[in-house]
Amino acid sequence: MKAIKKAVIPVAGLGTRFLPATKAIPKEMLTIVDRPTIQYIVEEAVASGIEEIIFITSTGKSAIENHFDYDFQLDTVLKDKKKVQLREELANISNLIDIIAVRQKEPLGLGHAILMARNVVGDEPFMVLLGDDLVKSQVPCCKQMIDMYNQLGESIVAIQRVDMDQTHQYGIVEGTETDHRRTFKVNRMVEKPAPGTCQSNMAIIGRYLLMPDIFELLAKTTPGHGGEIQLTDALLALANRRDMYAYEFEGKRFDAGDKLGYLKAIVDFALEHQTLGPPFREYLESACKDVIAP
Ligand code: G1P
Repeated sequence: MKAIKKAVIPVAGLGTRFLPATKAIPKEMLTIVDRPTIQYIVEEAVASGIEEIIFITSTGKSAIENHFDYDFQLDTVLKDKKKVQLREELANISNLIDIIAVRQKEPLGLGHAILMARNVVGDEPFMVLLGDDLVKSQVPCCKQMIDMYNQLGESIVAIQRVDMDQTHQYGIVEGTETDHRRTFKVNRMVEKPAPGTCQSNMAIIGRYLLMPDIFELLAKTTPGHGGEIQLTDALLALANRRDMYAYEFEGKRFDAGDKLGYLKAIVDFALEHQTLGPPFREYLESACKDVIAP
């Protein structure tokens, strides 16, 4: 069984849900406490044993690549000012991992974005991490999936249960329980089903572990929901060809691409921050007293 060493992270999206904040700034660069959201995603991949990241980018997204690059000018200034700790922090980011950027020239959908990584990924299973989905967990979500893959040897999509009135916002999986914990065999999946048309509430969250056959199927996938080439449609074709599993990950997921989800992520991550956590908790407690329940 081939090890999972590569992760594809699509970052080409326009971030329309977050306008006007994302007019001139990639949504992936919005900050959660002290780091841009994309850094959390990359750190999750690195902590799971991934050795190479492939960003699928588009015009106006160079800030993301720059964030993970070495900035000679900045480093020289910090060195002159003897900012040792800050220099080390920045060096840690640029030394995190090898990054390759591939352009998606037209916004034709998530499936099309993943297809752009075909030549770089080659004939290996790989991870896909979506930048909007932040997962806070003891064992990184990506690592939980790789551990499960080591037992199953097939594609896995991460899922979580959502309220039935939310299913139209997600790819939804129908599956049957397996002997493996928190794992279902995928029977069917549908992208953003119209309300009332689907009995399942198992929603796909932005973590996928995929066999390389997905590329051949993506190349044949025609536009689906919203007129876009949907990853979910190619996944269904893959599930019809070979086994595919849905894994109910352990952890708390935030939709950081949504304004309210982003605020919730900030509060949760800030409360756990090593130095900011305690004073932030104190502030929140007094703010709750003064503002929420005066
Ligand atoms: C994408 C996928 C969808 C999945 C969701 C998870 O949708 O197409 O299947 O459930 O991510 O965040 P998007 O949120 O990009 O519209």
